[in-house]
Amino acid sequence: MTDTPTTGAQPTRTASRRQWPLPKLADPNAPLLQVHDLQTHFRTDRGWLRAVDGVSFGLNDGEALGLAGESGCGKTTTALSLVKLLPSNARIKGGRVELFGIDLIPKSERALQRYRWREISIVFQGAMNAFNPVIRVRDQIAEPLRDRLNQSEAAARARAVELLDLVGIPRKRADAYPHELSGGMRQRAMIAMALSCDPAIVIGDEPTTALDVMVQAQILQLLEKLRTDLGLSLILITHDLSVIAETCDRVLVMYAGRIAEEGPVSRVFTAPRHPYTQKLLGAFPSIHADRRTLEVIPGQPPDLVKPPPGCRFAPRCAFAMPICTEVVPPETHFADGVRVACHLYPIGDTDVPTPTPAPPMGAP
Ligand SMILES: Nc1ncnc2c1ncn2[C@@H]1O[C@H](COP(=O)(O)OP(=O)(O)OP(=O)(O)O)[C@@H](O)[C@H]1O
Ligand code: SF4
Ligand SMILES: [Mg+2]
Repeated sequence: MTDTPTTGAQPTRTASRRQWPLPKLADPNAPLLQVHDLQTHFRTDRGWLRAVDGVSFGLNDGEALGLAGESGCGKTTTALSLVKLLPSNARIKGGRVELFGIDLIPKSERALQRYRWREISIVFQGAMNAFNPVIRVRDQIAEPLRDRLNQSEAAARARAVELLDLVGIPRKRADAYPHELSGGMRQRAMIAMALSCDPAIVIGDEPTTALDVMVQAQILQLLEKLRTDLGLSLILITHDLSVIAETCDRVLVMYAGRIAEEGPVSRVFTAPRHPYTQKLLGAFPSIHADRRTLEVIPGQPPDLVKPPPGCRFAPRCAFAMPICTEVVPPETHFADGVRVACHLYPIGDTDVPTPTPAPPMGAP
């Protein structure tokens, strides 16, 4: 999608809830996060792979945004691009990532240190890999407090214990090494580390995928509680649409490096408009169907080194029309806050509240 401002973007309130000020260049009236036309590509043997190709979205204070889409559609690359924590063969080829109105894309590695942890932190799947196995959990959580906030050793260690307490890890376990904690406990500790510098935004990239269902539910409850209590804003990346349905206010559905549909969870999950969103929901057991009626999305996502022109979903879409294989679909903005990139809808803003395309005759 192109350079689209987020619907309903609000100025950030982060400054009023935090002990330390916003970055010097911050515009107090700017929305928390605005991503404009982000393009992140990877250099490969076959040429540039367009992992993220024109993605725009926003995040308001205290909001939880879910990122959904099939494996390889660019969710993680989008998240990592926000703080430029990308593999060495990645290049951000265009776009802006504005945090409090400050564009982070032109920032040097050194300048970005001010923003990582302190403004945006990331919780990855599988906390064991993220922790150093030979350093006690408390000391690892204290590290960003010392390094980024210049806290004394004693203050940082005391705060680390408080943070562990906040995420439900008893103080007496603070001295444990990572392998001495259960998977759920380690993921909690990872969340404590992500919270250490009181960031404005926490990104969870499949933060509960490796955990069993009960522990997963506990971690999600914890994130929800932290969001309410601390006023955090969340970006939650997950394959599990039910997690987004339960936890998020808005959902952004990606397909092959672009946004297919974005809007309030209550609208997108009950009246999906993009044919890909419809298929994605139909392929997921716990929202729309029981296992007997699950649909499979036929075909594979396209090769992102040589993506098809026009709509990237066209080769798999039952509604595809001649224009779809030639012209990139522009966005349609609906009155209920949903936007869709699909030729089935009129271009621009529309008051039509909830259209759902009928399958064409003879569609599979
Ligand atoms: N370092 C890399 N070099 C080349 N291509 C990469 C690299 N990292 C990711 N990709 C490709 O970029 C695309 C987007 O990958 P990304 O990891 O962002 O997807 P994702 O939506 O997070 O997938 P998943 O749900 O499996 O985590 C994929 O085609 C992937 O193969
Ligand atoms: S633009 Fe065309 S091919 Fe793409 S999702 Fe819409 S109808 Fe299908
Ligand atoms: Mg990923």
